Amino acid sequence: MRASRRLQRLADRQATLSSGKRGDGQGLIGSAPRLVEALRRIQQIAESKYGALYERQNRSPSARRLSVGPPGRPQFRRLVNPRAELLNFASNSYLGLADDPRVHTAVDAAIRRYGTHTGGSRLFCGTAEVHVELEDRLARFLRAANVFTFTSGYVANVTVVSALFGPEDAVILDRNAHRSLYDGVLLSGAALFRFAHNDVGHLEHILQKTDRFRRRLVAVDAVYSMEGDMAPVGEISALAHRRGAFVLVDEAHAIGVLGESGRGSLEHFKLDSTAIDIRTGTLSKAIPSVGGFVAASPDVVLLLRYASHGAVFSAALTPADAAAANAAIEILEAEPERVARVRHNAAALQSALGSWSRPPHGGTAIVPILIGDRMRTLDAAVELLERGLFVNAVIPPGVPRGGERLRCFAMASHTSDDTAAAANLIRSVLDSRSLEVAADAKMTASFES
Ligand SMILES: Cc1ncc(COP(=O)(O)O)c(C=O)c1O
Repeated sequence: MRASRRLQRLADRQATLSSGKRGDGQGLIGSAPRLVEALRRIQQIAESKYGALYERQNRSPSARRLSVGPPGRPQFRRLVNPRAELLNFASNSYLGLADDPRVHTAVDAAIRRYGTHTGGSRLFCGTAEVHVELEDRLARFLRAANVFTFTSGYVANVTVVSALFGPEDAVILDRNAHRSLYDGVLLSGAALFRFAHNDVGHLEHILQKTDRFRRRLVAVDAVYSMEGDMAPVGEISALAHRRGAFVLVDEAHAIGVLGESGRGSLEHFKLDSTAIDIRTGTLSKAIPSVGGFVAASPDVVLLLRYASHGAVFSAALTPADAAAANAAIEILEAEPERVARVRHNAAALQSALGSWSRPPHGGTAIVPILIGDRMRTLDAAVELLERGLFVNAVIPPGVPRGGERLRCFAMASHTSDDTAAAANLIRSVLDSRSLEVAADAKMTASFES
């Protein structure tokens, strides 16, 4: 409640912000009207019965809070009723490694050896052996020439795009590409173009129109987190390279999920490593840690390592985070069956959901259920929570109005009973609310807000 009072105070102040005057700092917030609007909406949700869906631990009334424990665990508990287990399909710890004892042991050892401090940026005092071990392991795993890590996937994308491209260049993004790629373009000063989601014809049209630029980059997500579909990486790469453009693929939701051994889109599409010039990704989804990475040619990685802003002006990944990621990749290499299990679980969930699973399953770990209405999405998600299933309720600004949806993440640690129970609950809640499959709802995610 204290947190929601704080939010209330912020929102109250917002009433006086439009003047934008300097004084007690309020003018600063007033210059970000879209964020203030987002804050107002969060506050409304936090104080309502829907609060439990989002700021579970801090803002919702305690009766509704969840005891999350390791957030990647397939079950959660309620704080006030710890015996009531909830199935967790809201976490993207795809490989189910979030509470793997082998990862914990590696982290304990790293803390004993290095402590908790990063030491500074990688360039100065921040590089420990474990960073090098992680980057070498990632490079081997991804079959990449070189890898460099950053403190998050967001930082990796912003840093890579803004370091390598500038005002004389053009960056062409899929309409649904992750916000971090978009922010990287803004920072780079490059001209921004966007093609309709996964529409290679539209991309070709933009490539034809943009050959006046010094260099061009086509950047896509390997897997789109709202739709759960994949980019046609082979086609995009062939087209972009034919037209002289570079290709960046963000493998955030692909590592650990796509390809026989979880190596991502190159493995899935059986492409040569030259098909993608730059791969980025995160260590916070299938890999149960935090951090981001770039995989590219040695000269590109050298430049990013020693000269990019995200590397030079920001602290290194902590040794403990690097050790967690390193241990998890080692497990993934030894237990590739986890990859097949995630995809199997997602496909089983999708098939048990029948027509409620929309858009059709994209062969990834993400199963969206399009509802197409904000209140219906929130109501369905909160009823599911009350009946023992935790899924994401995605509403604007995560998706545009009309594209509201429930989103489930499958994990390797779900059992077939878990997926069957989740599908039954979802069907039962949606059927009882006589919702219709949102056939015409907007499918396009938005990063504009
Ligand atoms: C496609 C994509 N790229 C990048 C990121 C950012 O990764 P991180 O959470 O490590 O900053 C995300 C996270 O949601 C993502 O979905």
